[in-house]
Parts: sequence; C-alpha cells; structure tokens
Amino acid sequence: MSQTVRIKVSRYDPDQDDEPYFEEYEVPWEPHMKVLDALKQVQKQDPTLAVRWNCGEGVCGSDAMRVDGKPVLACKTEIPEAWCDRDTPPRIEALQVFPTIKDLVADYEEVWEKEKKFKPHFEGAEPKGEDGFYEMKEREVEQAQQMRKCINCMACYDVCHVLRQQMKQYAGPRNIVKVASFEYHPKDIENRTELLDTEGNIDLCNVTRCCSNVCPQGINITTDAIIPQKEHAVSEAGWDIITPIMRKQLQVQEWLIYNLKKLVGRV
Ligand code: SF4
Ligand code: SF4
Ligand code: FES
Repeated sequence: MSQTVRIKVSRYDPDQDDEPYFEEYEVPWEPHMKVLDALKQVQKQDPTLAVRWNCGEGVCGSDAMRVDGKPVLACKTEIPEAWCDRDTPPRIEALQVFPTIKDLVADYEEVWEKEKKFKPHFEGAEPKGEDGFYEMKEREVEQAQQMRKCINCMACYDVCHVLRQQMKQYAGPRNIVKVASFEYHPKDIENRTELLDTEGNIDLCNVTRCCSNVCPQGINITTDAIIPQKEHAVSEAGWDIITPIMRKQLQVQEWLIYNLKKLVGRV
C-alpha cells in the first residue's frame, strides 16, 4: 500500500498576510525522497506555493530553508519513512534571519549589500618568477579552495545569534568566508583585513561554531576563516583592548533589548 507523509509549510504573502502561518499538506512518500520533492508535490496541489530552487543536487545553494528549526538544503534532506507516522508533522519554513519575500523564499539583499564593503573582487599580482609562473604552496591552494566551496546558501547566517541582533553591523560568516577566499589566494594582492574590522566588526563573533555545524559544504568557517581573520586583524591593528570591550558591552546591551522585546512580544 502506498504511503503518505504530512508536512507543515509556512505560508506568507506580504500583499495579503499580516504574518506567516503554517498550512498542512499530505503528499505521497517514496523511499529516498527529499524535502524538495515533497514541496514539488505540494505545488501540484497548490501552485501558489513559492519555493526557490535550481540544481536539485546541492550545488546552487538556492533552496536553503528551515526543517524543524534547522537550516538545510531541501534537495539534500531526505524524508525518512518514520516521518509518515509522526504525530507532529515536520515544519518547513524560510530562513528566519532574513525578511521573507514569499512563503519559503528569503530575501538575501542585506548580504549582497554588505559584501560590497569588502572589495569582493580579485586583485591579481604579476607573476614572480622570470619564467612567468606563479608560485602557490599546497597549503595555500587548499585553504583558498575550501573557502571557494561556499554555495551562498546562507544556512550559516540563519544560525548566527550575532546577526539576529546586529545584522547591519556584523559581516556574518558567509561574508567572512568570501573575504577569506580572496585573502588566502596567493595571487590576490588586496588587503581586506582592516575592512573586516571597521566595516564588518569581526570581533563581535564569539566563536560559538554554530555556523560551521550547519554548513552543507563542510567548510570549517570558524577555525579556518573567522579565527585566522580575527588574528590577522589584531596583529595588523596592534593591541587594542578598549574597542573590543566597548563592542562587547554594546552587544550585551542589544541582546538585553532584543530579549526584553521578545518577552513582551515585540519581535
Ligand atoms: S561562530 Fe561567529 S559567525 Fe559563527 S555562528 Fe557563532 S557568532 Fe556567528
Ligand atoms: S559558508 Fe557554508 S553555510 Fe555559509 S553560505 Fe557558504 S556554503 Fe552556505
Ligand atoms: S536546489 Fe541547488 S542546492 Fe538545492
């Protein structure tokens, strides 16, 4: 007998709805089916459901969304058979740190705008050797390649508690990975470290590693991008103890205001 699975999908149309709400759907279940397959089935029942996807194979990063509160790629997240018997259907919603354009589609404009501050373009050097070849050490190539695995899915943004409160101020893990991809490239000659400090407030990161834990590309964001860039910023700026303390104080203050607002239902 064929099985079905129930899922709860967040619906939100800014032209009609004051706030998002969950709608329950029941779709046929098949072994190895993914969350994206279930959403395509839902679209057959209700073509107004907005879902962003492209490759269907974990390459483009466009279909990141929350499943039971965790940011994942819908095309890579399998629906196990056990979900058919769940009393409480899984909840699928857009990434919550961004504004929602419609249903499961989040607006990443803030990230692209912020990225412009960090000179996200390659500035190449002339070859060093007389023979016209570039010298690249194996370790440098590995580091740069790891950062270039980023598929801009924004899962790391969605779990970052600093961004939840200081979206405008903090560069965010994805943008730090982007900067690191240039900084680690042995042919790039631009220095973006100061920008990460002054424009991106990199010291706001308190290295919780939540971003690394959800990255579908397995990028070690904290250890291989954020910590080295922080260290670089400190060694370039010299020892400054006052600024980080003041920023930390601001962070605690904003955290308190955010949680007070949450307590009285204002966020
Ligand atoms: S390690 Fe830093 S960037 Fe990553 S989630 Fe934590 S605070 Fe955010
Ligand atoms: S660093 Fe990882 S989680 Fe963040 S946007 Fe890139 S691929 Fe996605
Ligand atoms: S659709 Fe491209 S990563 Fe999922």
